[in-house]
Amino acid sequence: MAENVPSGTTPDSAGWWRGAAIYQVYLRSFADGNGDGIGDLAGLRGHLGHLADLGVDALWLNPWYPSPMVDGGYDVADYRDIDPVFGTLAEAEKLIEEAHGLGLRVIIDIVPNHCSDRHAWFQEALRAEPGSAARERFWFRPGRGDAPPNDWESIFGGPAWTRVPDGEWYLHLFAPEQPDFNWTNPEVREEFLDVLRFWFDRGVDGIRIDSAAVLVKDPDAEPDGRDPYTDRDGVHDIYRAWRRTSDGYGDRALIGELWLPDQDRFAAYLAPDELHTAFNFDFLGCPWDAAALRRVIDTTLETHTPLGAPPTWVLSNHDVTRPVTRFGREDTSFDLNERRHGAPTDLRLGLRRSRAAALLAMALPGSVYVYQGEELGLWEVEDLPEEVLEDPIWFRSGRTDRGRDGCRVPIPWSGDAPGLGFGGEPWLPQPAAWRDLAVEAQSGDPSSTLGLYRRGLRLRRELLGYGGMTWRPMGENVLAFDRENGITCVVNLGAGPVRLPEGREPLLASDPLERGELPPDTAVWLR
Ligand code: NOJ
Ligand code: CA
Repeated sequence: MAENVPSGTTPDSAGWWRGAAIYQVYLRSFADGNGDGIGDLAGLRGHLGHLADLGVDALWLNPWYPSPMVDGGYDVADYRDIDPVFGTLAEAEKLIEEAHGLGLRVIIDIVPNHCSDRHAWFQEALRAEPGSAARERFWFRPGRGDAPPNDWESIFGGPAWTRVPDGEWYLHLFAPEQPDFNWTNPEVREEFLDVLRFWFDRGVDGIRIDSAAVLVKDPDAEPDGRDPYTDRDGVHDIYRAWRRTSDGYGDRALIGELWLPDQDRFAAYLAPDELHTAFNFDFLGCPWDAAALRRVIDTTLETHTPLGAPPTWVLSNHDVTRPVTRFGREDTSFDLNERRHGAPTDLRLGLRRSRAAALLAMALPGSVYVYQGEELGLWEVEDLPEEVLEDPIWFRSGRTDRGRDGCRVPIPWSGDAPGLGFGGEPWLPQPAAWRDLAVEAQSGDPSSTLGLYRRGLRLRRELLGYGGMTWRPMGENVLAFDRENGITCVVNLGAGPVRLPEGREPLLASDPLERGELPPDTAVWLR
């Protein structure tokens, strides 16, 4: 199984995304340059050194476009500009240039399934007549009497349709402020190709495609037993066209956000004429269990290898409960639809496992993602006061599901003054205990989580990023594998210590070894 899988290329051949470590910047919560409490481009530009020091190869920015921010910017009002709260287009261009100067590639987020209800096209559609060309860019339909056109539910809860004053309804798979585009309309297709060109022309190296599997739908169709909007066959045409555009620019990457448990369906998006890579959410959702992780890793490699597409290893992002909290719970799996908010957790245990998981993710062949704050060992903030919650999931669930704000709290940089060096008073309050987790506080300490990430990412770049892996049998509760270049990674998920192979030198461990043995919930790299 997974023997010497060729995961990609050599470091200097084309395809930077094949072995890249990619840092996710949630701009609103990264660093606030002008003191209004919201992260911005000035703040990011001032802290690019942190990313260079960390040893990542690229950053991915969540949407930065003008937006009413009903869904943290995933409600885009203009795909060709920057929201004033973040800065200007000129600053974005400067950021790209400065990042490139530090050897960092820049990936932006494109949201093709829906826009904001403030987008010029949707405003035009509202003013236009039923049946007009302006409405044909969206999904406007008459209702069934007083009922919506069909019974689809929004992914954020409640009906997926909202009625406008003239009686028609429009479709929104997410919040009502996020009307869905009609991708059967050639104008929509052309528009997004033009948006891609707009950003590629400005030097962007990659595109993260939001909600990539749900673009194609037909609300008028009779149910056919399959999900009516997830992963419909027609979606592949769209990405083939995107790939033709990106190929015209050389080494630019298309990265899909695809939550698809079926590996064959998932693999279809990674065909050579479609997306370059996609997020590995099976790995992200996997419980802290050796057999389950082995299965996910094997399946991932089996899916990607024949396609020549690099796997990705993802532990968190701005939509999921932070791993420190997740891995300290009794049930360590993660499911978007069942966040287990407030379930008892042991944060010390969770941190220990997160550090081990980080070394595991960094040691696997392919590319790896780091969500801001992961490198600091931040936990999910589960006690945010209700008044500060902004996630539409909170409102759409009738204030029963607190949603995703707990993983979006601004990160601590330095000091113990309010804001912990973030800038102004953060838009979501930080736990006081994060003072000790600030970048500055951890910087001098090689045993800190930040120290571990820095060393791990550097070693990975030097030694690990390319070539395949072979499992090394070391017992049921141990994950151990050899990389082609002679590095071995061993992770102990059992309850007792594990004896390490003779004659090997430990390069880096997620927590100290004990009398030469690997303690529970610890990972080590050996040379
Ligand atoms: C996925 C994004 O990651 C999430 O934050 C957003 O709410 C939905 N797509 C809708 O755009
Ligand atoms: Ca700001």
